Amino acid sequence: MKHVHIGFEYEVYDTIDQLLLQDAQLLNKARETTTIAYAPYSDFKVGAVALLANGKEIKGSNQENASYPVGICAERVLLSAASSLYPGVPVTTLAISYHNQHGASDHPVSPCGLCRQSLLEHETHFKTPIRIIISGMEGKVFIIPEAKLLLPLSFTSNDMNL
Ligand code: THU
Repeated sequence: MKHVHIGFEYEVYDTIDQLLLQDAQLLNKARETTTIAYAPYSDFKVGAVALLANGKEIKGSNQENASYPVGICAERVLLSAASSLYPGVPVTTLAISYHNQHGASDHPVSPCGLCRQSLLEHETHFKTPIRIIISGMEGKVFIIPEAKLLLPLSFTSNDMNL
């Protein structure tokens, strides 16, 4: 028996002002995109904006439903939009923010487990890392260099011996 440790490094910035201009612009657009979320049940509005390898940008926001499980997170709305509008083009950077009508929005919030699995599949399929920039409407910003870091010991198509 042996113990195995899994860890990863990511960048932490105190504010958006410390980011490279292109990253700051993308994060500001993610913050703006929270306003188009449809989240009448949670009042937790998530906005995501991606830069694609062809230079285009795609938005996504969470879309809830009276039948709660039907709701879709901003990240997966975005990935579906990206592959529909620009098939075959990978996402290279993804900025995510949120506005919480019942609380603060002053710390980064990470993608949920389902979205991590979807982001990983996108990365694996395109063999291209997705840099993830996360932050609330204010405060610290984290930059995670690739989505697969968020899902250690993940299940992928390789496990199915396809
Ligand atoms: N949500 C996202 O859009 N992305 C995440 O990564 C976490 C959660 C949404 C789903 C739901 O509409 C609301 O936030 C509260 O969970």
